[in-house]
Parts: sequence; C-alpha cells; structure tokens
Amino acid sequence: MKTVERASLPGNDFLIIAHRGASAYAPDHTFPSYELAVAMGADYIEIDLHMTRDRQLVAFHDRSIILEGEEHAIANLTLKELQNFLPGRIFNEQLPVMASKSFESLFVPTLEDIFLHFKDQVNYYIEIKSPTATPGIEKELIHQLESYQLLNRSDRFPKVIIQSYNADSLKKVFELAPSIPLVKLYSQDTTSISKGEIRDLEKYASGVGVNHSLVTIDFVNRLHDKGLAIHPFVVNDADDIQALLNMGADGIFTDKPDIAAKVKRSHLREPTKP
Ligand code: G3P
Ligand code: CA
Repeated sequence: MKTVERASLPGNDFLIIAHRGASAYAPDHTFPSYELAVAMGADYIEIDLHMTRDRQLVAFHDRSIILEGEEHAIANLTLKELQNFLPGRIFNEQLPVMASKSFESLFVPTLEDIFLHFKDQVNYYIEIKSPTATPGIEKELIHQLESYQLLNRSDRFPKVIIQSYNADSLKKVFELAPSIPLVKLYSQDTTSISKGEIRDLEKYASGVGVNHSLVTIDFVNRLHDKGLAIHPFVVNDADDIQALLNMGADGIFTDKPDIAAKVKRSHLREPTKP
C-alpha cells in the first residue's frame, strides 16, 4: 500500500493564530472579533467548530449553552435555536471595559457565513470540537472547504489548518484530504507524550498544540526532530510570547494578535543571539 505523505506547515516562521478571533477585544467567534484579528496582523483566524442537530457547521467554543435556564448541547440544538444565544451580551457583561452596544445583536455564525464573508482572503485554523457527538462532521467540513475552493492551493501559508484533541477525527480528515496540515492538541503535560504517540503522530500530523506553560526547549527540539511543528496556546503576555519565539515555537494562539504582531516584528528586527 502506498504511504500518503503528511502535509507540511511553514518552517522558519512564527504564525499568529487569533484565538477565537481577537477575543480579548470583541466577542469570541463573531465577525468583529475575526475582522479585528485580521486588521491586527493575525496570520490565521481560529474557528472552534461544532455541528448542530440540523447538521449546520457553526463557529462556537463551548460544548453546551444555557437557554432559558436549561443546558443544551450544541449537537442537540438546531441552528435557529442556537442563534437565540447572543454572544455579545455575555461578552459585555464579562468584560465591561471592552463592551459595546453594537455587540449586543451579534449571533453565532455558520462556517458558510464566515467563508462567504472572508472568502480566500484570510487563513483558517479550524478545531473540530466534540466529533464523537456529531458523526460526519469531518466529511461535511471537507465538503465545504472544497466548495469554497480552499484546498489544494499554492499560497505562502496553507489556507486551512485543522486541529483537534481527538486523534481519530484528525485521521478521518487525513483519509479524506491528506493535503491539509493537521495539528493534534494536548491538554496534558508534554513530558507524558510517549515515544509511541510521537511515532503515531508522524503518520498523519504536521504539528501539535499544547498549553504554553508546558513548553520546554527540549520538547520543541524533540518535535522538530520528527518534523512536527509546535503551536502553544493561549499566550497573551509579551514576555511569554518572546520566550516561545526564543525556544523555537512555530506559532502561537493568542487573544491579542496586536501584542503578538508587535513582539514578532521586534524579534525579526533583533533576533536573539545564540
Ligand atoms: O485550539 C487550541 C486552543 O484554542 C485552546 O483550546 O479550549 O480555547 O479551544 P480552546
Ligand atoms: Ca480552539
């Protein structure tokens, strides 16, 4: 059987991945948050992806929401029901210093809303959430990426990167569309990622995402030796971003793409001496 090569991620660069958009300044996964991210110099907008009961792909982080005092899994709601949830109202309550009246009417966008809006003018870093609750989410995602002509291109950066905590979900994507770079997410301490697991990653993944506080230079080198990139999350402090640049991380997820862009610019002007 012919071995299919995994896709590669940009080497010698430092990707600024806008975590849920520029989510320190505007509600997660809304157009103001994504627009701001692009304006601030993000290389990618990050999209957390769920599928609703009526099989609509939507950009939303949490697995469930409270509607009229009751908790509902996103997988059990229709798109219409989910769009009763107003993300801007929550943002305004939780972050009054950044609140805006204009956020109050924002709704949860579908993936198609986002593709129709940004087309191929931005890069997309999509996380498949809760894949076991929504069988077929991978196939529908690939179908939409193909429909919007976002795959098999020759841009400077891959137009689309897909991430998940679920290795089986990533392997399904690899079977359907091996040209997409895949990033396996980890919640645990990096030292507990075994040699066997790294060998498995080498078969399909282009990189890993881990909590930034767990990153060490040894771990970065161990991954790089296996051709795997590392994108730590979620990093908002300039000194932390600088430390990761110095360790050789290949990018970061950040709520503050403006801070990351400033640190990156100054690092490129004055790279750390060995
Ligand atoms: O996707 C990795 C990063 O986004 C952190 O995870 O919980 O914010 O989706 P989360
Ligand atoms: Ca995410």
